[in-house]
Amino acid sequence: MLKIDGMSVSYGPVQALRDVSLEVPRGEVTAVIGANGAGKSTLMRTLAGLVRPAAGSATLDGHSLTGRKPEDVVRMGVSLVPEGRSTVPELTVDENLRLGGMWRSKAERASTHAEVYDMFPVLGDRRSMRADTLSGGERQQLAIGRALMSAPECLLLDEPSLGLAPLIVTQILELVKRLAEESNLAVLLVEQNAVTALRVAHSAVVLNLGQVVMSGSAADIASHEELRHAYLGY
Ligand SMILES: Nc1ncnc2c1ncn2[C@@H]1O[C@H](COP(=O)(O)OP(=O)(O)OP(=O)(O)O)[C@@H](O)[C@H]1O
Ligand SMILES: [Mg+2]
Repeated sequence: MLKIDGMSVSYGPVQALRDVSLEVPRGEVTAVIGANGAGKSTLMRTLAGLVRPAAGSATLDGHSLTGRKPEDVVRMGVSLVPEGRSTVPELTVDENLRLGGMWRSKAERASTHAEVYDMFPVLGDRRSMRADTLSGGERQQLAIGRALMSAPECLLLDEPSLGLAPLIVTQILELVKRLAEESNLAVLLVEQNAVTALRVAHSAVVLNLGQVVMSGSAADIASHEELRHAYLGY
């Protein structure tokens, strides 16, 4: 389980997260929803070791992640797919995947590489093509595939649906759900699109101005009308 306890983050005078606590069990998708500027990406970047929290802690299966370097956080089993798909446009699909999990042995990487192509057949078909020739949905699959190359226990996905057609979004999020369930990953899914996120998530938290304003099962949050009007805009 990924456990976040009392996390606060400031960028100079801007407090982006205030005392955020949440639990992300293995085998499930937990959604973080909230408007622009709510602090969603800050939470992800802090967990990945890219931002230092002013207070609070995060643990994965009881091991502390707080204060570690980004590469150490990855080695401990936490893999981030950042906002805006972090693939390298000039490199091929195959080369992009090779960038993931560089410290693992060649044999380990080769086996994960094959698994990623099994999971995303379209990537196998396009393995020699440059990333910038892929469609948005294919590039998002590549970004997730690359994150999987480090054999994570916990996957952090920052707005994977951004800019994708609704049908593709559904496919990607169904795949994320399957990954959580079949590989027993703790998945934290950030989405501005609450309707989409709540459809695949088991549970969710709503962030507003850096604070958790509600948490519960995805079904409870989806049916909470006041909250939907106040924070989710539908
Ligand atoms: N590097 C930074 N320096 C200063 N302020 C920042 C920085 N990054 C984010 N912020 C501020 O912190 C707050 C939270 O930003 P964050 O990017 O975490 O929100 P978000 O929920 O991911 O928003 P979006 O839905 O637009 O991606 C915002 O007020 C933002 O302006
Ligand atoms: Mg963001």
